[in-house]
Amino acid sequence: MEQVFINLFHNAIEAWMVPDPGGSYRIPGDVINISVSTLARHSPEVVAKLFEPFFSTKDKGTGLGLAITFNIIQKHGGEIRAESETGKGSAFYITLPKERDNHVV
Ligand SMILES: Nc1ncnc2c1ncn2[C@@H]1O[C@H](COP(=O)(O)OP(=O)(O)OP(=O)(O)O)[C@@H](O)[C@H]1O
Ligand SMILES: [Mg+2]
Repeated sequence: MEQVFINLFHNAIEAWMVPDPGGSYRIPGDVINISVSTLARHSPEVVAKLFEPFFSTKDKGTGLGLAITFNIIQKHGGEIRAESETGKGSAFYITLPKERDNHVV
């Protein structure tokens, strides 16, 4: 799970550093729904590929962060999805089961 947050926040920090900065993140106390949002926008074609290994819009990106994140969340029995809308930016939503044997790394 540590890697999930590192990847998501790393991406958010990088997205905040582009010329049109802004955005926010929110972690509710009850770790069931987590969202990370930024003002960076993507077309529907790009959104469809965000979790694919080696897909990146960055010059030096490996494109592995979200692919690894997707796999970790799946191993925890959860779901992650991305949304991106013109004028609203992008958001990543994670849903995790409330009760779970959390010994999965
Ligand atoms: N928080 C975010 N806001 C907007 N777009 C994002 C965000 N996180 C990821 N993306 C988009 O998803 C793409 C894939 O992300 P991923 O983390 O898999 O690779 P990367 O960030 O490009 O490379 P690396 O993780 O190696 O630095 C990014 O290139 C970027 O276009
Ligand atoms: Mg990344």
